[in-house]
Amino acid sequence: MKINNICCIGAGYVGGPTMAVIADKCNYLNVNVIDISQKRIDDWNNDDLDKLPIFEPGLKDIIKRRRNKNLFFSTLIKENIESADLIFISVNTPTKNKGIGAGMASDLRFVEECARQISKYAIGHTIIVEKSTLPVRTAQTIETILNSEINSKNKRNHLKSFSILSNPEFLAEGTAINDLEKPDRVLIGGHDQESIKSLVEIYSQWVDIDKIITTNLWSSELSKLISNAFLAQRVSSINSVALICQATGANIEEVSKAIGSDSRIGKHFLKAGPGFGGSCFKKDILNLVYLCTYFGLPEVASFWKNVVTFNSWHKENLIKIIVHKLFGTLVDKKIIILGFSFKSNTNDTRESPSIFIASQLLKEGANLVIHDPKVNEIQIKKEIENFISENDHQNYPKELPFNNNSWQFCNDLDNSFNDAHAVIILTEWEEYKNLDWRKISEKVLNTAWLFDTRGILNKNIFKELNLNFWQIGTSSESK
Ligand code: NAD
Ligand code: UDX
Repeated sequence: MKINNICCIGAGYVGGPTMAVIADKCNYLNVNVIDISQKRIDDWNNDDLDKLPIFEPGLKDIIKRRRNKNLFFSTLIKENIESADLIFISVNTPTKNKGIGAGMASDLRFVEECARQISKYAIGHTIIVEKSTLPVRTAQTIETILNSEINSKNKRNHLKSFSILSNPEFLAEGTAINDLEKPDRVLIGGHDQESIKSLVEIYSQWVDIDKIITTNLWSSELSKLISNAFLAQRVSSINSVALICQATGANIEEVSKAIGSDSRIGKHFLKAGPGFGGSCFKKDILNLVYLCTYFGLPEVASFWKNVVTFNSWHKENLIKIIVHKLFGTLVDKKIIILGFSFKSNTNDTRESPSIFIASQLLKEGANLVIHDPKVNEIQIKKEIENFISENDHQNYPKELPFNNNSWQFCNDLDNSFNDAHAVIILTEWEEYKNLDWRKISEKVLNTAWLFDTRGILNKNIFKELNLNFWQIGTSSESK
């Protein structure tokens, strides 16, 4: 089947960049990205490309080239479903927060809603592609919903038919455009060879055919969960090793290099840090844990659950280290937090370790000054307030939500270090590597500490400075 019109439901971190790259690589296709959020669509259509809803290196240029040529953002759900030959479902699949499976299982209400809209409005034969990350066998649910309309008594519906594919997305934020343009692989799962061929045809416009892997539906759905589980497990593994380094005098950078040089282990994803964040790892592992329990595999569930448990404990442990170094109390102490996004080169803060760490420091009574090059004040405030309201809010100081004494957003980094008790690097933004630490050491208090939780600074420069230095995975503290 020749594809001319594509529709993507969900204009988020995946739908937006992925469709932008498809439109850019296949200019014969019409690509319509739709969303229920008018605000999100307005942001995608903003003339000022610095105000797109997502910051991703390289994204602006593609939007400039393709928007309103063969790439369109709108809320016209009915019209775009009707005209589509192929529909990507790219909506959010958060963790369920109530009912059976709460805190573990995927909340599929947005996916279900898409299936209902598609079943209502689609015309002729339509290929439905799962782009969202989903529990194994979701395709079956989608198929049941789609076919319910066909099987209804309404004769008009005999004019429609569907085939379902799974095509999970492996992009990482901050490198999304590069990952989409040069993917390690594209995974397509399905049972209908004709539909698989149609989707392969699109990707083969820019991806080598030997990098396009085709599997059955269930292998494809499962591979996405397992891929994220393996990656997250690696981060928890290296963070656990960082603690062994701290205790023994070994150095995490050296250990990472030594083990990563073994081609069976590989050098990527061995960077110790404050714990993994982002919208995917925790939710996808919990989803996997839920599936394992459901399928009667409690030991397997417990194996993967530990990856998440360790990640939470790791962040708590960082708080303990900070409080200990600052003489056991943070009350009224000025602490500068550098970085709020969950990693560099993105404005995404979902599950960022900074949320937990900033909230805990506030709970200890600290006065925070928070900086991030791409995350604004409103977003930081929202994340911390949400975290506190969902957690033990009664344990936080009475004056929260925040006033200017307990926290400030930092617009002027150079002038914020005066009399600080501590500086904590939580995101590995390039600009933090290049700060003038000599000057900063003259501004902070005499007993001040710099905590480098990302291991981005050269510890040797701190030997001569008036600043105590702590770095993840190293045992030497220097003054
Ligand atoms: P997101 O929250 O950024 O975007 C989802 C969008 O879907 C939102 O704008 C929302 O308004 C819209 N939406 C929800 N229901 C809708 C409906 N019925 N009709 C129209 N629009 C609707 O989420 P995301 O980060 O883009 O993730 C989407 C999926 O991709 C998730 O399953 C996620 O696990 C997966 N994924 C995410 C990443 C990532 O790095 N963010 C990477 C790979 C896979
Ligand atoms: C992840 C997967 O990498 C991607 O394939 C999938 O499609 C979506 O989920 P993302 O969450 O965007 O991507 O970023 P990623 O680079 O995987 O980082 C996740 C978290 O792990 C971040 O908080 C990051 O700082 C942390 N991390 C990553 C480390 O602490 N050390 C590392 O070596 C790598």
